[in-house]
Amino acid sequence: MMSDEDWAESLRRGHWQGAVRPQSASPLSLEIHCGHAPNSAHCFMVVLDISERGERQRQYEELQRTVDRLASTQEQLLQSEKMASIGQLAAGVAHEINNPIGYVGSNLGTLQDYSTALLALVQKYHEAMFSEDPGARRDELLQARQRLDIDYIVGDLPNLLKESREGIERVTKIVQDLKDFSRVGRDQKMQPADLLQGLDSTLNIVWNDLKYKIRLEKHYGSLPPVECLASEINQVFLNLLLNAGQAIEQRGTIELASGCDDQEAWISITDSGCGIPPEALPHLFDPFFTTKPIGRGTGLGLAISYGIIAKHHGRIDVSSRVGQGSTFRVVLPIRQPRAEPPAPTV
Ligand SMILES: Nc1ncnc2c1ncn2[C@@H]1O[C@H](COP(=O)(O)OP(=O)(O)O)[C@@H](O)[C@H]1O
Ligand SMILES: [Mg+2]
Repeated sequence: MMSDEDWAESLRRGHWQGAVRPQSASPLSLEIHCGHAPNSAHCFMVVLDISERGERQRQYEELQRTVDRLASTQEQLLQSEKMASIGQLAAGVAHEINNPIGYVGSNLGTLQDYSTALLALVQKYHEAMFSEDPGARRDELLQARQRLDIDYIVGDLPNLLKESREGIERVTKIVQDLKDFSRVGRDQKMQPADLLQGLDSTLNIVWNDLKYKIRLEKHYGSLPPVECLASEINQVFLNLLLNAGQAIEQRGTIELASGCDDQEAWISITDSGCGIPPEALPHLFDPFFTTKPIGRGTGLGLAISYGIIAKHHGRIDVSSRVGQGSTFRVVLPIRQPRAEPPAPTV
């Protein structure tokens, strides 16, 4: 096991330490301590079976790799759920954008006709003004004004411009709201944010899907800025709003409410939908738990929302009654707890 040189060294220096691997046995750690008395030399040896330590080290590294893999899988899931919900919304959003773009386009066509008529009239005024007897052209000008429908144009023009401007503002707003969702939360810093504004932007995105069957009620109590990753919290609102909408078959109500005390702020989303049976409640936040048909439900929305809210040191409370509806209440601390300051050194 040990070479002659190792023995000689342990005798010379009084100490030797090393690992040895006996043939067909597990590795051992050896420590030899030698001492000399006048008539004798004595030695003692500490033998440790390090195979188990090696095994534990290997298990630890394996576990570490699994944790790393899980962290990156979670990141991917978060992103893919975001993408899935965006995909689900894309059709609605396309419609929502198409509609204003459609009427802005048609308004532009009309405005082009109006400006042609107005320019033609301006041209006639110009010609009359520089003619020998401008007064004699008065009737002609009045007729041209009538023929070109100028009175109608003058009345309609401001409406067309106002409507077109609103259409463009609506598209701009939708695009801004969508931008919030295309970012992954990584590397962002928690910052004080207006939760109600986030909820309203999110609502704006899903509203196209909901507006035909939902009556919306808002009971917002004012909230202070809440320290959070706004884009991730919006992702939670999106999941809860989509679930609320999907829980309502025909027609129903979604009620949004908010409130706070000096520590916490809360937002609740209540639907008058199908409700959740008591036996499903403990599983709601399990990844892949879904009662929806394939293609409609991934079972990831609430699991991911739970993760996001837990990261913010908050919680999601659920209460529900089958046949009557459900309330999901997101509670967040207004300020994130700080890491413990290091103990003062004396
Ligand atoms: N507002 C709600 N009303 C009724 N059931 C709900 C509601 N929200 C969630 N659920 C139930 O929880 C399950 C999991 O929700 P979620 O994680 O968002 O996945 P998914 O919506 O893809 O099924 C849903 O399939 C549904 O059974
Ligand atoms: Mg869902």
